[in-house]
Amino acid sequence: MQRTFSIIKPDATRRNLTGKINAMLEDAGLRIVAQKRIHMSQADAEAFYGVHKERPFFNDLVSFMTSGPVVVQVLEGDDAVLKNRTVMGATNPEDADEGTIRKTFAESIEANSVHGSDSPENAEIEIRFFFSDREIVG
Ligand code: CMP
Repeated sequence: MQRTFSIIKPDATRRNLTGKINAMLEDAGLRIVAQKRIHMSQADAEAFYGVHKERPFFNDLVSFMTSGPVVVQVLEGDDAVLKNRTVMGATNPEDADEGTIRKTFAESIEANSVHGSDSPENAEIEIRFFFSDREIVG
């Protein structure tokens, strides 16, 4: 059993897609063991995406992620990191496979509806950034 971290991004919450995205996650065999709707502060977004600080899209990414509410989640399942990345689809929705969340819902490479951890190590760090143990109920 593995855990991963997920964000339903502002483009998706704005279009009322939380339930549809959650259904796709659950249908993929992932269990939502923690979830909360928050509005990320500028400091949160800058720290969370710190690894991208030098990238040309960093400022736009921080503006976008603070532009509206997000839903942060902990997902659990066998191979949860890989399972979630498979159901999410490629970062750029133009490259994403049919039936994935990003192919179905994403508007652009920035407004791409969901984030998911890229490794179990980063999942642990990202989960800790937003959740305490008592908020995670498996
Ligand atoms: P995410 O998985 O949340 O991690 C970093 C985010 O940066 C990524 O999804 C994209 O939404 C966003 N982003 C914006 N522009 C780019 C780009 N040119 N290349 C990669 N990621 C980008």
